[in-house]
Amino acid sequence: MTTPAPSIATTAPPVISVRDVHKSYGRGSGRFDALKGVSLDIADGESIAIIGKSGSGKSTLMHLMALLDEPSAGAIALSGSDTATLKGSALNRIRNKTFGFVFQQFFLTPNQSVLENVVLPLKIAGVGAGERKRRGMAALEQLDLADKARNKAVNLSGGQKQRTVIARALVNDPRIIFADEPTGNLDSATGGVVEDILFALNRDHGITLVIVTHDEELAAKCDRRVHIKDGLIEAVAA
Ligand SMILES: Nc1ncnc2c1ncn2[C@@H]1O[C@H](COP(=O)(O)OP(=O)(O)OP(=O)(O)O)[C@@H](O)[C@H]1O
Ligand SMILES: [Mg+2]
Repeated sequence: MTTPAPSIATTAPPVISVRDVHKSYGRGSGRFDALKGVSLDIADGESIAIIGKSGSGKSTLMHLMALLDEPSAGAIALSGSDTATLKGSALNRIRNKTFGFVFQQFFLTPNQSVLENVVLPLKIAGVGAGERKRRGMAALEQLDLADKARNKAVNLSGGQKQRTVIARALVNDPRIIFADEPTGNLDSATGGVVEDILFALNRDHGITLVIVTHDEELAAKCDRRVHIKDGLIEAVAA
C-alpha cells in the first residue's frame, strides 16, 4: 500500500504573495497609476519571468515584491507574513538576509575592489572582516572571478561586472534573487553565461528567481511567465 504524501508540503505558503496591489506615482493631475490591482503567488523554488512592454509596470511590481517601495493599496506577504508593518531596521534586515538583487541601477562602486563590492551586503549585515573575505571569495570563485578580486570594479568588462553583481546577490545565501533585465546589456554569449548561473542557483540551491526581461528565450526557460500590460496582469503562462 502506498502512503499518501504528507499534506504539509503542499500547504506551505507562497514565498511571495501579492494581493490586489496598486501603485500610483505623483498626485492630482500628475498622478500615474502604474499598477492597477495585481495579484500573484510565487512558490518557493520557482523561477518566474515578468514580461511586458516598456512602461507596463514590470520594475514597479518587482520593486514592491522586493520591499524596496510600498504599494499604494493592497498587500504583500513573505512566506505568509504581511510585510506592511515592517519598518526601518527590521525591513532592512529581512531584505538584506532574504533577497539578492541583480539590478542595473544598483551599480558597483567603481573605485572599490571587486571583493569590496561583493561583500557589501555582508558588511551591512555586520559580518566580521575575515568571514566577509572568506564568503566573498567563495562567491567570486563560483562566478569564475576570483582572479579579479583585487581589481577595481571600473576596470571590469560588462560581462564581468554583471557576474560581480550576481556574486554580490548570492553572497548572503538569499532565498530569492530579483533580477531586472540581467542580460539586457550583454552580448548573447555572455548573457548565456549569466543565465546559466542564475538557473544553476535555482536548480541546485532552490533559490527562487524573479526575472524581469524582454528576452523571450530567457523567459521561456522560467517555470512561469507573467505578462503585464498597462499595470495589470494580462496572463500567466506555465
Ligand atoms: N518614480 C516614478 N514617478 C512617476 N512615474 C513613474 C515612476 N516610476 C515609474 N513610473 C511610471 O510607471 C510606469 C511603469 O514603470 P516601470 O518602471 O514599472 O516600467 P517597466 O515595465 O519596468 O518598463 P521598462 O521595460 O521600460 O523598464 C511608467 O509609465 C513609468 O513612467
Ligand atoms: Mg523596468
